Amino acid sequence: MDIFKQIQLKLKFFLGSLFYLSYAPKALIYTKRRDKLERQFIARTTDDGVSLPGKLIRAEATATGANFYFELAELEVYFLAEDLVRVDWKQGIAPIPYGIARQEWPEVEVKLTETETNCAVFTERLKVIVEVDGKLKFSDRSGQIIREELPPQYKIEGWVHQAQLRPEERIYGLGERASSLNLRAAKDERQQSKTYRMWNYDAAGMYAPGSDPMYLCIPVYLGMHSLGSYLIFYENSFDANFTFGETATADFTGGALRYYFTVGSPKQLLERYTELTGHAPLPPRWALGYHQSKWGYRTEAAVREEAKAFQAHNLPLSAIHLDIDCQVGYRAFTIDPERFPNLASFTQELAEIGVQFIAILNPGIKYSRHSNLFLEGQILDGFCKLPNGKLLVAPVWPGWCVFPDFTNPKVRSWWSRQYAYLLDVGVAGFWHDMNEPAAFITDGDRSLPKVTQHYMEGRGGDHREAHNIYGLLQAEAGYESLRQYRPEKRPFIVSRAGWAGLQRYAWTWTGDVECTWPALRQTISTVIGLGLSGIPYSGPDIGGFQGNPSAELYLRWFQMATFFTFYRTHSSNNVEHRTPWTYGEPYLSIIRSFLELRYSLLPYFYTLSWEATQKGYPPVRPLFWAASDDMRLWDVEDAFMLGDALLICPIVQEKERSRQVMLPPGNWYSFWDDTVFAGGKQVTLSAPLENIPVLVKAGSILPMEENQQLTLHIYPSGEGESLTQLYSDAGDGYGSSRLDTLHLVRFADNLELTREEQGDYPFPYTSVKLHLHGLKIQQAWVDDVEVTSQGQELDYIECDRFFKIRLQID
Ligand code: NOJ
Repeated sequence: MDIFKQIQLKLKFFLGSLFYLSYAPKALIYTKRRDKLERQFIARTTDDGVSLPGKLIRAEATATGANFYFELAELEVYFLAEDLVRVDWKQGIAPIPYGIARQEWPEVEVKLTETETNCAVFTERLKVIVEVDGKLKFSDRSGQIIREELPPQYKIEGWVHQAQLRPEERIYGLGERASSLNLRAAKDERQQSKTYRMWNYDAAGMYAPGSDPMYLCIPVYLGMHSLGSYLIFYENSFDANFTFGETATADFTGGALRYYFTVGSPKQLLERYTELTGHAPLPPRWALGYHQSKWGYRTEAAVREEAKAFQAHNLPLSAIHLDIDCQVGYRAFTIDPERFPNLASFTQELAEIGVQFIAILNPGIKYSRHSNLFLEGQILDGFCKLPNGKLLVAPVWPGWCVFPDFTNPKVRSWWSRQYAYLLDVGVAGFWHDMNEPAAFITDGDRSLPKVTQHYMEGRGGDHREAHNIYGLLQAEAGYESLRQYRPEKRPFIVSRAGWAGLQRYAWTWTGDVECTWPALRQTISTVIGLGLSGIPYSGPDIGGFQGNPSAELYLRWFQMATFFTFYRTHSSNNVEHRTPWTYGEPYLSIIRSFLELRYSLLPYFYTLSWEATQKGYPPVRPLFWAASDDMRLWDVEDAFMLGDALLICPIVQEKERSRQVMLPPGNWYSFWDDTVFAGGKQVTLSAPLENIPVLVKAGSILPMEENQQLTLHIYPSGEGESLTQLYSDAGDGYGSSRLDTLHLVRFADNLELTREEQGDYPFPYTSVKLHLHGLKIQQAWVDDVEVTSQGQELDYIECDRFFKIRLQID
């Protein structure tokens, strides 16, 4: 880097630091106030006595389960489905079902049996054994005990809930975590099992691998051991600590002990969990393209220049995200009319070149009589207050702010109305930031005081309960707004914070991660963990948020992110402007080739999105997804699956030009040169700067598109048959759709491919190319008409829409 550039960067960093420092006095005042309030609060709750349920006195069958009466506790076991049960230890504030999407379940047949030592309540597929002291055991259809719980301990406020872990047991999930993929593997500084906190938390500009908690905590985890796998979701939004040592311990600071439990393969677990907490709706198709962002676009001219530069460099682009600099005084729902004088025509101009305009907004409202939102919210009595009835005021970007109480339905609908005028001028989507909610502090918790009061749908409560659901409810308000005010299009919202069920309303990103190689590697576990917690759409700031990545680090990060759902470069305001052309050649050309690859993979991505709407499967999956009984795959955290067909091996170290990976069973083709690798063992793959190893599972058909032509890449396996689905529709809105189901059968000397169609949407491609990998086509018949002449050896054939294709391969 030349000296001029270095000075420029240092200056930028210095100015950036001054910018942060300007908030210091307010942060200091607020921290003192918050501490005073919290001291009063803690004084009320120092009793740490615990009580156990005592002895079981009586069990009573109900239509869907059973009630158990202990000396000191009451337990309800309620089956929602044959393999999904709700366990409810009754003491403590019952949750408001913010996380739950489905309330009505068809009745299932449940039986209750009683012996001297225990009772069992069960269906065909799941049994809950309740012992006299309150221990619970869960067994699956085959009778294997999948989980053993100790009697829960009820505290004055909250619960401690423990389960025995098997030695080989792995744990995944808990929402967004900067930890190992298997959460049980991570240790703290004292080499003890790491504690994971359940408290949405602003990393405030930078975090490193290992940092905890993160912005989006969800009390759900998936346990896997040699006898099977299960998922447990605690419907409790209070602050909690989870540890996974010999036991799994969940220590909640308040609320009831209500949890949902299900057994099955990882696929089945995600199906059940997302049936319960909701599926992610289909995003607009453009959202699966590339997004460019930067904390620093201040003017229409700057944004136009960026979009034009993408065109000039011949790079596809789907959206530009505008950070707080486009606002007036960093205020929510504003875009500076002086710096964006023709917003409606500008968003139109961008849309014409295929670029969507995404606007940021933070929940904190400027505490000022000169703020309309403040005045409106006051009339509604819609802001969070302290127990003495005064407004809670804390510093964020606009200065002193008040916070809408999203636990009040009136406030949600008022908030919903605010999006309308930005929608009218063509803003295509919204970026919800700082919604943990974050506040500036000098030390301690970066949020609102725990005594802050919330409406909680009328029953009242405080911030201890409302904190973790704040971002979720803001996202709900935003989503409902986009549905209501722009009903012909699908909502697009990205939210930094959230809780169980966020997938119903928003995507997320992994926040202010540092610009390092370990951070690149960390992203893989974080994104997989989010997916296993029900959130299918996430991705990192490509290159990291804080710092200036080397050309190689940015490139490797870009290559990896090509296979995540949310594909966005973003960076801080005190670092060098970062775009795909920042580092010149050869990086630019390589990045272009990955961008082009991403766009040609859209039929595959879009079908995975559709699958998520039906089954809740995250597009980005761990390697054990399809072979969960293969223990060697349980800890692979530097590679991931994209759907069932693609296995991605990012390069996670500088100068690395090859890497190893443990392959799941089956055969795997190199996407780049069709080399075939036998699965079920470790292989070494080459990774020149130009690409990262990408493998395709034998038996798959990978749908790709270019210029309205659909290419079906066929990767044959040695034997057997496979099904591949291809979903298409108009790409936005709620019109008709179609599903093409491809059935591939391998015979000794030929392959047969049949296509069935469902749905009214017309076939969106002008022609179809069938590309056969690993073998040559000797002769081909499309709908029984021969399309090749003898003696040819082809890699592909082209045709129109077909119903049956036969390829002679020997
Ligand atoms: C924090 C966010 O995490 C970051 O992405 C954003 O650029 C800044 N806030 C400024 O809005």
